[in-house]
Order: sequence, then structure tokens, then C-alpha cells
Amino acid sequence: MIQTIRGFRDILPEDTVLWQAIEKTASNLFEDFGFQEIRIPIMEKTELFARSIGETTDIVEKEMYTFPDRKGDKLTLRPEATASVVRSYIQHNMGSSDPVQKLYTIGPMFRRERPQKGRYRQFYQINAEVFGISSPYIDAQLILILNELFKRLGLSELDAHINSLGCRECRPDFQKELLIFLNGKKEHLCENCLRRMDKNPLRTLDCKVPSCREALVDAPSTLGHLCSGCSDHFETVKSVLKEQSVDFTVDKTLVRGLDYYSRTTFEILTTALGAQSAVAGGGRYDALIKELDGPETYGIGFAIGLDRLADIVAQMINDIKMKKAENTDRPEGTEDIPKNASDFFRLVSVKSPDLFIIPLGEKAARLAYMWSSELNIARIRTETDYSGRSLKSLMKRADKLNAAYVLIAGDQEIEDNALVLRDMKTKEQYFVTAENPVEQIETLLNRV
Ligand code: HAM
Repeated sequence: MIQTIRGFRDILPEDTVLWQAIEKTASNLFEDFGFQEIRIPIMEKTELFARSIGETTDIVEKEMYTFPDRKGDKLTLRPEATASVVRSYIQHNMGSSDPVQKLYTIGPMFRRERPQKGRYRQFYQINAEVFGISSPYIDAQLILILNELFKRLGLSELDAHINSLGCRECRPDFQKELLIFLNGKKEHLCENCLRRMDKNPLRTLDCKVPSCREALVDAPSTLGHLCSGCSDHFETVKSVLKEQSVDFTVDKTLVRGLDYYSRTTFEILTTALGAQSAVAGGGRYDALIKELDGPETYGIGFAIGLDRLADIVAQMINDIKMKKAENTDRPEGTEDIPKNASDFFRLVSVKSPDLFIIPLGEKAARLAYMWSSELNIARIRTETDYSGRSLKSLMKRADKLNAAYVLIAGDQEIEDNALVLRDMKTKEQYFVTAENPVEQIETLLNRV
């Protein structure tokens, strides 16, 4: 049997319901905040990622799926979306109509990491990118949007970690001091850090090797070296977040795994999936657009890991179900749906058929096919069954599918021009004629 590639997986229909509900909630939210959707290719020239994410990052050094196409061009399956969105912004000269562009995109990314729970080689991201705004208000607003998304999904306690990485002005001074510090710790650093340290000392601060982490506890931080512009910017981000009651922690160790960031960076951390991991990350990339041969324009954005977010949301829904099961005297439909999340819970609820047609006999099967198609077109979720099984076993199937109504259509009933339509909840029965039953069903189901 041929199976999926390691680190790749299917999202099965029972999970897709949840994924679609999250995607819809996110896109509605983005649209409330004036974002528009952009769809970008999943493959780009390797150079785009190497130049933007950075040659000495883990992603570019060891995680990209890169291969020559038949003509020898070097191509890469996108490991992230920001580089592509920036490329598109430049290529289509988007800034010329309005320098401010707010874009979102949802789709698969590819990184050849070691697979584990919450870490895949094909994973999905919900991305938001904003161009043309230098104001710190937009930095705060992106974190506010993440906070609001969590609320609309019924999640609480977003743990936002924020930091500032400085800019072209203040970064060199900081790097100089960091390098001096690193030189004093050389014997404790891993090979990777030693190799990268001169070219890109900031990368060492993101190293996951325990000996490096220990050696770098007292490393100088960017926060101690911000120029007045960066410092004011960061102060405003923090004060605005406070005023809007968005919780955050300043985390001077948050440098992110991609090289294009300047000033504000942030991550949303979770322990819901076992070891602490990030469910979203982002930041400012004011120099990137110019570096990719575009105009001098500000940029900032984030990406949410949809696989991880879906796991967290699924856990939350399970917890609610468990609580409900413990509290059985409660009337149906009064589970603890968190405030602000009712739209999401409506989207995620299981959609069962409005009607199940049970045909008994050859003639009935053909008519059941015709009627169910017509009803489907009329937006009535109708199922039927052509297996020729008995009334008893098809009633069982209708029950299992949780159909609201059942229409029993045997050859005899068709001949007598009287089909039985049964309300499965109240057990009430109605008769509909076999000639043109669709309209009568629409009326009885209150759909006209
Ligand atoms: P990132 O931190 O590399 O940032 O990825 C963002 C999120 O994608 C992570 O927080 C995580 O939830 C998810 N993620 C990353 N790798 C995996 C994986 N192997 N399996 C499952 N989930 C994963 C970026 O990609 C930036 N482009 C974000 C950004 C947008 N910055 C500015 N604009």
C-alpha cells in the first residue's frame, strides 16, 4: 500500500469541518479589519527565499525542499509566505495605487524538519501582511487581531511574547557587543553557532541546543541597545496593547528564526500541545521590500500555524463536551459556548442531512435519485441510498446520519401516489404525492 510521505498527512473530513470553520472565522476577521485575500504560488525561485529568510537560517540551510526543474532552474516549495507576498507586492507594483496594502493568505508551507506532534513537513499557515505603515499602532493592531481571533474561536489566555530587534541604525552596535560576548563563550557553543556567529551573531540567540542556551543566558539583548526611534516605537506598541487590555510579556530572547525582522517581533506561545511551542509568530520587516529590489516601504505581518491552532481548538471543544457530559441535567444546547465564539460554534457544528430518501424497489431508486438531485439543487441537504437494502436497515442508516426527515418511497407507495414523510424528532408523518413531491417537501420543511 502506498502511504503519505513522512511528515505529510491527510486532513480527513471530520477535521476539515474544524479547519474550514477556523479559516472562515479568520477571513471574516481579516475582512473586518480591511484585509484582502491574496493567493500566491506554492513554488518560487530558490533565490527568493535564500535572499529574504537569510542564507544562515535553519530554514534556508537545511529545511527547504529545493530541486532543479527539467531545465535546471533551482526551485523551492515555499517554506513560508512572507517572501512570496513581498515578491508579489513588488512585481505588481501594488503600492502605486495605495501605498497601504493589507493582505492575507492561507495555505500549505513546506519545511523538512524532524516531524513530531504539531510539527509537520507540510503544514498550513494563516498569514497576514501589511505594507506601507510605519506607525507602531499597526504593530499593536496585528497582536490585537490575533487576540480577537483567539476570542472568536473560544480560546482564552493568549500568551503573546514581544520584543524589539532594533533597526539598521542600532543593530550594528548591538551585534558588535554580542560578538564580544560570544567570543568569550566559544567553548560552550555548538558547531552551528560557531560557524554562523561572525556572519550573523543574532542567530545564536535562537539556537535550541541546551549548552548554547545555558551559555547565552546573560547575553546582551537588543532591548538594551535600541536607538531612540526604536525605543519610542516599542514603548508605543506596549502602551497601546495595555490600553486595549491585550496581555503580553516582553521577552528579550525572542529573535525569531528568520533574518528579515527589524523592530517589533512577537510570538504566541502555547503549552496545550505538550512542550511549549509557538502557535503564531511575526514582526516588522521594514528593510525587506527594498532588499528584494522593491520600493522603500514598511512591512509587518504574522503567520499562524493552522495545524497547531486546530489542535488547540479541538482540545477546547473536547473539554466543553466533557464538561457537558458531566453535567447531564442541563437542557440540550446549553453547553458553555465561550463569549464571542457563537459564530464559530455554528460553523463547526456537525451538518446532518435535512432529508433521507428511502427507495424500496428499482423504480423508486431512479425517482429517489431524481428527487434528491432536485432537492440538493434547491439547497436541501438530501441523501438517499441505492443499495436496495431493506426498510429496516435504511432507517438505521438514516438514524445514524441523524437525518431530520425521512421519505419512504416503495414501488407500491409510488403507485398509490402517497409517500410517507416522517419527522424523525416528533415522529409526525405527512403524506406527499409521488408526482412532484419536491415542492411539497420544500413547503413542509419550511424552505419556501
Ligand atoms: P514562523 O515562526 O516560521 O514565521 O512560522 C509561523 C508559525 O507557523 C509558527 O509559529 C508555527 O505555529 C507554524 N509552523 C512553523 N513551522 C511548522 C511546522 N513544521 N509544522 C507545523 N507548524 C509550523 C513565519 O513563517 C513568518 N513568515 C511569519 C511572518 C509573517 N512574519 C511576518 N509576516
